[in-house]
Amino acid sequence: QKPLPLKGKKVIVTAGPTRERIDPVRYITNFSSGKMGYAMAEAAASLGAETILISGPVSLPVPTEVNAIFVESSEEMLNTVLRHFEDADIVIKTAAVADYKPKMILPSKMKKKSEELTIELTKTTDILQTLGAMKKQQLLIGFAAETNDVIQYAKDKLVRKNADYIIANDVTEANAGFGTDTNIVTLIGNDFEKEFPVLPKKELSKELLLTIMEWETGDTH
Ligand code: PMT
Repeated sequence: QKPLPLKGKKVIVTAGPTRERIDPVRYITNFSSGKMGYAMAEAAASLGAETILISGPVSLPVPTEVNAIFVESSEEMLNTVLRHFEDADIVIKTAAVADYKPKMILPSKMKKKSEELTIELTKTTDILQTLGAMKKQQLLIGFAAETNDVIQYAKDKLVRKNADYIIANDVTEANAGFGTDTNIVTLIGNDFEKEFPVLPKKELSKELLLTIMEWETGDTH
């Protein structure tokens, strides 16, 4: 019997959306359900990895054999990932991290006054790009959720964020992207590219990890 391909490896997976507070009762977020990230974590654990799931606010059960840490904002997610990064072997950034957050969090509930309201936003730190700039042994796997020019944007992200792989996701296709139980992706590495058919997120996650391990080690699965 073959040994489990990720035995002895420490894998970090981020999942779900982030929540960026406006005031004590309001926030900015997105449609990520966490299904893809939780499936990646479950797949990593089933392949033998010690798996840490860093999750934004979602309502999904934590897969068995996975250690979950819950966070709210992009800043909390960044700090939590950094705390576990040093001895990680693989980091998978499935989370849909907010690109912008309110410039300041109001201490009390904003009152309804004028017809129009402008909330000033400021850029969040790009977690994947931060990790890409500091990585040593870590294999860095990012996602790219796109609505157009999917492969081109994903390739740009691979280079700009210094990732080893990008999983490109056309979120306009039916049965793919946010909230669905299935996904359609293309796995893009520096020398490789593979298009996957529509698959349940759980099955797809295992295939993605096995394919990446195959490309990394040369062993077929
Ligand atoms: O959760 P589900 O409902 O199952 O949906 C799955 C999904 C569509 C969220 C998932 O498959 C997916 O595509 N996740 C990435 C979403 C995203 O934020 O993509 P992006 O193209 O904006 O970001 C590219 C990469 O940079 C991602 O790995 C992201 O985690 C990372 N990033 C982005 C911004 C930021 N501030 N820090 C980051 O690390």
